[in-house]
Amino acid sequence: MALEFTVRDDQQYTDQARLDEIFANPGFGDHFTDHMAVATWTKEKDWHDAGVVRYGSLASDPASAVFHYAQEIFEGLKAYRRADGSVWLFRPEANGERLRNSAARLALPQLPVEDFVAGVRALVEVDQRWVPGGAEQSLYLRPFTIANENFLGVRAAHTATFCVIASPVGAYFKGGVSAVDIWVSLDSSRAGAGGTGAAKCGGNYAASLQATNEAYAHGCSQVLFLDATDRSHIDELGGMNFFVITRDGQLVTPELTGNILPGITRDSILTMAPDIGFTPVERRITLQEVLDGIADGSIVEAFACGTAAVVTPIASLTVRDQVHRLPEVAESQSLDIRQRLVDIQYGRAEDPYGWTH
Ligand code: COI
Repeated sequence: MALEFTVRDDQQYTDQARLDEIFANPGFGDHFTDHMAVATWTKEKDWHDAGVVRYGSLASDPASAVFHYAQEIFEGLKAYRRADGSVWLFRPEANGERLRNSAARLALPQLPVEDFVAGVRALVEVDQRWVPGGAEQSLYLRPFTIANENFLGVRAAHTATFCVIASPVGAYFKGGVSAVDIWVSLDSSRAGAGGTGAAKCGGNYAASLQATNEAYAHGCSQVLFLDATDRSHIDELGGMNFFVITRDGQLVTPELTGNILPGITRDSILTMAPDIGFTPVERRITLQEVLDGIADGSIVEAFACGTAAVVTPIASLTVRDQVHRLPEVAESQSLDIRQRLVDIQYGRAEDPYGWTH
């Protein structure tokens, strides 16, 4: 039976003046709405007790499995405010499907997609005044599931909590949508064959942080990870997928090997590609061929993509002490792809794919 997210609290705790202050400079993931959606799973009762409650701490015992064995998965999607004031979600079922796949990999309970969408919708409805209306702004939704059985034996937990929180956001990177510099990690990997690379689990992101610190120390804002086994093929960035644009109009991205997160923005771009004049290509790509392509001009642009990053052009790839600069372009094709995607998301362009809700 479908879960019902009963609204247990709908009081608006934040006054309009404070909201306006937040919307003037939302940042990314700094502020949270007045409510959250929650549901409980137990081995005996399956999913139950779903509701929208006041935002606040989740009571957790120090023995809770998530603190010890990182049995945790999450999602990221956004609610967009359109010019007419209405609020829309983008491909929430795709996030619901991916959360189910991540749950299977981390031995967590799989929430039905319709319940995932119901939870997200219920929260957005209660907190809809938190969806900002400024350019490039949205309400970032962070659904997640944690194992919270109080037990230190290493096995799949018998109790879990699903929760959705929401944060009004602007651009992910501090520099807005301007091009970012990327540090190529030659020494550390994000995920290995047979590991959890295709799951959206906290552990993958924790594993990226040491190299991210290295990136910051070299003046870069993201890390590009290589295949853990052969150390020559490109996997993805710390929290985003990677694309290059070739001179002959190919949009090339690493194929899904099981180590790479199947990004919904990645999939949307590949789907849109033929309709906007590009040939979509998913294949294994070596770092060397990207560096050679930058040097000989056959690669004209590269970009990072994800829900948070949308489409962010890449200015350079740094490999040890060598900075490989992408050419400066008068008209960025990456930004054009970004524009076409956000125009669908904000309802400024037709949505022939049925992605918006
Ligand atoms: C997202 O794009 O939603 C992510 O989870 C990535 C993270 C960099 C915020």
